[in-house]
Amino acid sequence: MEALLLGAGLLLGAYVLVYYNLVKAPPCGGIASLRGRTAVVTGANSGIGKMTALELARRGARVVLACRSRERGEAAAFDLRQESGNNEVIFMSLDLASLASVRAFATAFLSSEPRLDILIHNAGISSCGRTREPFNLLLRVNHIGPFLLTHLLLPRLKTCAPSRVVVVSSAAHRRGRLDFTRLNRPVVGWRQELRAYADSKLANVLFARELATRLEGTGVTCYAAHPGPVNSELFLRHVPGWLCPLLRPLAWLVLRAPRGGAQTPLYCALQEGIEPLSGRYFANCRVEEVPPAARDDRAAHRLWETSKRLAGLGPGEEAEPDEDSQPEDPGAPSALSNLHPEEPTVSEPYPSPQSPALGDADQLWMRAWEFVI
Ligand SMILES: NC(=O)c1ccc[n+]([C@@H]2O[C@H](COP(=O)([O-])OP(=O)(O)OC[C@H]3O[C@@H](n4cnc5c(N)ncnc54)[C@H](OP(=O)(O)O)[C@@H]3O)[C@@H](O)[C@H]2O)c1
Repeated sequence: MEALLLGAGLLLGAYVLVYYNLVKAPPCGGIASLRGRTAVVTGANSGIGKMTALELARRGARVVLACRSRERGEAAAFDLRQESGNNEVIFMSLDLASLASVRAFATAFLSSEPRLDILIHNAGISSCGRTREPFNLLLRVNHIGPFLLTHLLLPRLKTCAPSRVVVVSSAAHRRGRLDFTRLNRPVVGWRQELRAYADSKLANVLFARELATRLEGTGVTCYAAHPGPVNSELFLRHVPGWLCPLLRPLAWLVLRAPRGGAQTPLYCALQEGIEPLSGRYFANCRVEEVPPAARDDRAAHRLWETSKRLAGLGPGEEAEPDEDSQPEDPGAPSALSNLHPEEPTVSEPYPSPQSPALGDADQLWMRAWEFVI
């Protein structure tokens, strides 16, 4: 009996340690009142996106939930209005898999919404499910769709500057490798899908980096954010039904709740004073260093050019440094120059970049990832 109690105590103690060191997320701080500001959150009907939108609504922002399903989007908007007490939460239709839908969303948004202060690219997929497209669906939803949407909404972001773009990436970007000769090939089978997911998350980090460079001086800043390992539907929705009863309780125990996963994207959207870190990658509400492939400026430039083609970006729609841009607060800083670890540009009061070594939780996940692919 005593041995049993001792065992149970040790198990509980170990879990408390795991919980506080790996699972619990540091809370974001940042601007307390967002009254008068407008935010767009893609994929906001579930998981991390829904919790991100909830916090923005609680702080008083007008929040547009950009979701592919009207039914799920309207239901989420209803929930969020109830929970936040903020009636300015609305649904608008956006399917990132369709470039026509991205354009239709942008047209509808620009004609009905006078402001855009925060754009959060949260929507993402980890598998193609049963869908068979003649292109790389993971890249389309996770990178090309957001790339096009950013460009179409950029004029509004610029007029509302200082404004921010947050791209929800992942620590999986560390496993990514961009092969430009096969970037848009359809992916088949779960191993290819896991690789394509990592590649698309690397594309997120490189996109934020290149975008920051091109937007320098406009008052629009952008960040790549890793939410941490989160208990959401992202991977679980593709797991065979018989495995779910086993995996769900385990996921609940060892993964962050979506509210915890929302903290780093929120930090990037709301934290004052991080503008000089535009283009950087954040995890656990602090800036982190990325591997060489994710700070390769030539790859970032090539990805930009390829994405322009894949997104069907027309002349005059591209983000370039805009000499005539008149941000509301022209003093808003933004700089991506000198970002190499050997030449740190930011010291006090900003957190120094974390070493390339990952946090404990991410390290565990990346080891599992390596094992799988
Ligand atoms: N969960 C994690 O451990 C983790 C770790 C690192 C990074 N992330 C990133 O965090 C983000 C949010 O993921 P999550 O964990 O919250 O997963 P989730 O619960 O599956 O949410 C994904 C959201 O994206 C939406 N979406 C999917 N395809 C779309 C499309 N074609 N057009 C518009 N919206 C679409 C989904 O809408 P439907 O409900 O209609 O499918 C859903 O609202 C993703 O970018 C993911 O890569 C997650």
